[in-house]
Amino acid sequence: MKKRWSGWTLAAGALALSATAFAAPPSPEMISFACAGCHGTNGGSAGLTMPTLASQSKTAIVDAMKKFKSGDRPSTVMGRLAKGYSDADFDAMATFFSKQKFHSTAQTIDAAKAKQGADLQEANCSRCHLEDGKEGKDDTPVMASQWLPYLKMQMSLYESGKRKMPEKMAEKVKNLSPQEIDALLHFYASVK
Ligand code: HEC
Ligand code: HEC
Repeated sequence: MKKRWSGWTLAAGALALSATAFAAPPSPEMISFACAGCHGTNGGSAGLTMPTLASQSKTAIVDAMKKFKSGDRPSTVMGRLAKGYSDADFDAMATFFSKQKFHSTAQTIDAAKAKQGADLQEANCSRCHLEDGKEGKDDTPVMASQWLPYLKMQMSLYESGKRKMPEKMAEKVKNLSPQEIDALLHFYASVK
């Protein structure tokens, strides 16, 4: 029996604890322990399909969690996970991650695409994705240094209609070619 326990992943173990064992509300650090297996101990992503949460705005994290929970936003794992938590938990998690320092990632990026993307970002996306996507404000997530596969996956969910694109964002995106969108995502991934 002991052996099985040691085989549990960090995330699954912490999730079980947070759901059952505590009479007092768990601390934000404890809740966020359940997220660290995938989003890193300091909110930095541990894998290419997972976003970095560090320095995301509190509102953006709470919004995302509520949408995952309700099924408004499609997901591979987050929908299932989010169902285990209350709004108060989301608030505590979001506070914790929003206070972590911005993480930059080292990715192999096509420099020509990133350069084209920089101009497109300025002209089309910078009203909401501030400071080259480094600054998350209100419900806008941090884009800078997110893994390219994650960004591509989210953009294709938007384009297929499975994830609902903010209306004002859709107005900009519809004028751009697939090649231009690809350049934009390369740009965001390249920002350190
Ligand atoms: C098993 C891995 C895993 C665990 C554990 C996990 N996440 Fe996630 N998270 C993901 C993946 C993958 C995505 C992308 C959406 C999807 O496909 O589910 C994501 C997306 C997110 C997003 C959206 C961010 C954005 O930029 O749009 C938020 C917020 C988030 N997770 C918060 C959390 C919190 C809070 C926890 C702890 C309760 C947690 N996650 C635990 C894998 C995980
Ligand atoms: C009017 C404000 C606005 C504009 C303009 C805008 N966005 Fe967004 N963007 C948002 C918001 C808000 C979200 C998160 C909303 C949601 O889906 O829950 C988002 C999310 C995204 C995401 C998903 C990131 C993640 O972590 O989930 C991508 C990719 C993205 N935007 C790309 C772009 C690109 C490329 C442009 C320019 C062509 C652009 N956006 C213009 C507001 C905007």
